[in-house]
Amino acid sequence: MDAASEMQKIAPEERRPGVWVCTTPEAAAGEAARRLIEIHAECVAARGEFMLSLAGGNTPRALYRLLASPDYREQIDWAHTHLFWSDERPVAPDHPDSNYGMAAKELLDHVTVPKEHIHRMEADWPNLGRAAQVYEVILRNLLPLDSRGFPRLDMVLLGMGADGHTASLFPGGGNPAGTSRWVSTPMVEKLGTRRMTLTLPVLNAARHVLFLIAGADKAEALRAVVEEIPREGGGVLPAALVQPFAGERVFVVDAAAASRLQA
Ligand code: 6PG
Repeated sequence: MDAASEMQKIAPEERRPGVWVCTTPEAAAGEAARRLIEIHAECVAARGEFMLSLAGGNTPRALYRLLASPDYREQIDWAHTHLFWSDERPVAPDHPDSNYGMAAKELLDHVTVPKEHIHRMEADWPNLGRAAQVYEVILRNLLPLDSRGFPRLDMVLLGMGADGHTASLFPGGGNPAGTSRWVSTPMVEKLGTRRMTLTLPVLNAARHVLFLIAGADKAEALRAVVEEIPREGGGVLPAALVQPFAGERVFVVDAAAASRLQA
């Protein structure tokens, strides 16, 4: 069964406020696409543009592929859409690990976003700190500020790792809420590499945050995040800290990822 007909098959169940459980990863991608199209239409109608930050990793691949398909891509005003990234690995855009590269293959190569509206995080620069400063200037030039002085994206797509990280905000990475920076370049100990990422205050400045999460390996972290269970040593997981100050947060997940949430 293809993704589009899968999406029509069973409506998602709201297992918790803001936590929508779909039968399969394909159905979750379909629900995320439906919500993105709806939000995009509201934003373009209200402000003439749609400022969207894309998630990295593998889970969003199915979503981007769906958005690139004829049924879906015709519903989006790509000419008035700007694309940003929530985080990026320190690799060239054509490297297999590049979040930009994955989005380009699955989405950008199939839709007509003006190239000046595609704002790649240039995390392959030798001076990552300088690249982060340049990205902050791009955000400043294009986005309104929220009441806390942080750039306000219309929609931020996020994934979540099995350890509860999101974007490139990892457990043990210091106090993500305590920064005034908009873009940071944390050393990710467990990966032994730096990343470039939007900071928590920028994620929390968004009008809409949508977590797309699939797979049984995420079930324990999702339970901890949704129920805000503190970790040993205190504090909740980074994904749990994403709670927009003046915006909406939803989780669109498959049944496997939701398997630890009480029915
Ligand atoms: C990244 C992502 C990261 C991702 C999670 C989940 O650059 O890796 O931004 O936060 O969303 O690691 O990745 P999967 O979707 O591949 O499980």
